[in-house]
Amino acid sequence: MSEVVRLQLIGLSVVGCGILILLFIRATFVRVIGFVAIVLGLFTLVALSVPQMASLPPVEEKFDMATVKTPTDMATIGQKIFFSKGQCALCHTIGPSESARCPDLKGIGAKLSREFLFESLTQPQAYIYLDYRHEGAAKEYPARMPYINKNPIGLSRNEILSVIAFLQQMSGEPISVTVAELEAPGQAPAAPVKAAQSGPVAVAEAH
Ligand code: HEC
Repeated sequence: MSEVVRLQLIGLSVVGCGILILLFIRATFVRVIGFVAIVLGLFTLVALSVPQMASLPPVEEKFDMATVKTPTDMATIGQKIFFSKGQCALCHTIGPSESARCPDLKGIGAKLSREFLFESLTQPQAYIYLDYRHEGAAKEYPARMPYINKNPIGLSRNEILSVIAFLQQMSGEPISVTVAELEAPGQAPAAPVKAAQSGPVAVAEAH
């Protein structure tokens, strides 16, 4: 039984109760309540007969371990995450763009090591990559790279590894992330792949 049908039944029974009260009960106060019940019940029924528009949250990428057999499968999932849940494409382009507010990620998998990629995503303030696309001194980008492993984006470790696989694949690099590194559901988290401690913020002077 769908939710709407259930609510309609409730509305109908409220109206029914109201009618029974009006038919069989003489006390004025109770009759008023019965009348109110009929009005409210009818109101609900009318409201429910208006076509419903479901607004469901976007479908989340299911990380089904059974379907991930090769690093290429991981990259495929990573690509979907890049353009959906990870929100990377809101800021980054793959290939140069005039309007880009953030670094172009074309070839990033070849430019950065896998550890550095992981750190760029999970400790974005540890090393800030500056904007060199204009005359004069490099500036900070107007936007900030968010912590990808924390809310609101909050990618899991598996999802981050998949995004790295995608970044390497689209840069024409061999994928160095392996399926064996993925955590099975319910398994205790493996030691994080951490390359550097979050020390004082270093700003890249030259690249
Ligand atoms: C709110 C905008 C925003 C979002 C969303 C975002 N980034 Fe970034 N990202 C930036 C900015 C700004 C920088 C440059 C400053 C810095 O290095 O922290 C950056 C830097 C990076 C770098 C380092 C670039 C370099 O050349 O050193 C990588 C890699 C990266 N982002 C990947 C990603 C991935 C993958 C995602 C999605 C999971 C993502 N970003 C989501 C804004 C964003």
